[in-house]
Amino acid sequence: MLANYKILTVTHKRTNLKEIGDFVLKTSDQEELKGRLESLKQQFHLDELFYLPTCNRVMYFFTTREPLSDRFVAQFFQSINPTMPVELMDEIDDIVYQYDGVKAVEHFLDVAASIDSLVIGERQILRQIRESYEPCREWGLTGEYIRIAFQQAVVAAKAVYNKTRIGDKPISVVSLAVQQMLRAHVQKEDRLLLVGAGQTNQLVGKFLVKHGFTKVTVFNRSLEKAEQLAQNVGGQALPLAELPNYQGGFDCMIVCTGATEPIITSPLYRQLLNGEQGRKVVIDLAIPNNVHELITEDFNVEYIEVEGLRNLAKKNLAFREREVERARKVLNEYLQQVPALIKQRQIELAMRSVPTEIKAVKEKAMNEVFHKELSGLDEQTKALMEKMLSYMEKKCIGIPMKAAREAVLNQ
Ligand SMILES: NC(=O)c1ccc[n+]([C@@H]2O[C@H](COP(=O)([O-])OP(=O)(O)OC[C@H]3O[C@@H](n4cnc5c(N)ncnc54)[C@H](OP(=O)(O)O)[C@@H]3O)[C@@H](O)[C@H]2O)c1
Repeated sequence: MLANYKILTVTHKRTNLKEIGDFVLKTSDQEELKGRLESLKQQFHLDELFYLPTCNRVMYFFTTREPLSDRFVAQFFQSINPTMPVELMDEIDDIVYQYDGVKAVEHFLDVAASIDSLVIGERQILRQIRESYEPCREWGLTGEYIRIAFQQAVVAAKAVYNKTRIGDKPISVVSLAVQQMLRAHVQKEDRLLLVGAGQTNQLVGKFLVKHGFTKVTVFNRSLEKAEQLAQNVGGQALPLAELPNYQGGFDCMIVCTGATEPIITSPLYRQLLNGEQGRKVVIDLAIPNNVHELITEDFNVEYIEVEGLRNLAKKNLAFREREVERARKVLNEYLQQVPALIKQRQIELAMRSVPTEIKAVKEKAMNEVFHKELSGLDEQTKALMEKMLSYMEKKCIGIPMKAAREAVLNQ
């Protein structure tokens, strides 16, 4: 059965994100997706099918007795995207990864444990796998064998996170910025100024909420966006034009706008200090920097800027990459267990009828074979006989199951 597992996948490793889109099922809602997957399953005689689209990969994980071939792959993707550009069709063998048998399960475990990811150690892939698996299961597209691979992949991925340090060190600039801010002893009751309310500072906002910061003032060119972010962090919003008039003081300032000139100049900074002398933390996430370089010379600041954070991110990613070998060892243990899990399930399925058959033997014994003898017995003896037979029935059901399980374990 292991040989029936197959994967066709297109990932960031062999193509760009735009091209991955040509290998994805384009549907407008879940109902249409269900229909497309059902007809794929039927057209290519697949026993089970699991579809996993993420931002940098698309995977078709299925079981079939049919061997994979270049012709199969071409027809498969032609069916998925009948308007696939000719140049992509010509290169399809170089773009699509094909895995079968144990290699397919191994690849699936690698993906779930994020060692095949663009960003190694990113945990969200496991959530994406779960979210994609659930509808496929509900729609009856997957069955016993994909379920076994899915459950084993989830358990194996968790073991990788527990036994290695693959996800330990942050690699997103924003999470590193917040980490550095906390290391600089910014406390949750400190006053924070957020300058800019674009995507980057919105992400910063999520971390601030997570760490319990409450005194946040958001400045942005358009007040509407400032208000939106302020609402998310439970702070107040002001237009950027009001920054020079702000007299509330601050302990930490996080600046990130699309401005191409420094918007926090020395005179403005002095005003914002409002006469305070203590050391302040200034985080500048903008490219180019939004905080004028003289500020680090003129004032008592701990300055954290994007270039330093990017270097740290690179170092942390290299650290995660070094953990991949350890992760592979962990995954291998779980991969080795898959054939036994499959056998065990096959035996359980084959034995599904055992309880009903044993019950039928008991019923026949009582109602046909020994009916005459039983009817001659008094009520008490009859009840005892029935009790004994029910006991035997229960015990007999467990015997073949136990023997089969032990046979699998001892293989
Ligand atoms: N550190 C990182 O990892 C990282 C990642 C991505 C981007 N960045 C950098 O972060 C900055 C913002 O990126 P983003 O993704 O947050 O951008 P975004 O979502 O496009 O938002 C841009 C923000 O900057 C404001 N803004 C734009 N031009 C401005 C100007 N001339 N003066 C004042 N405010 C201005 C916008 O205000 P309105 O709402 O009024 O338009 C908005 O709040 C850029 O420098 C970008 O290069 C850093």
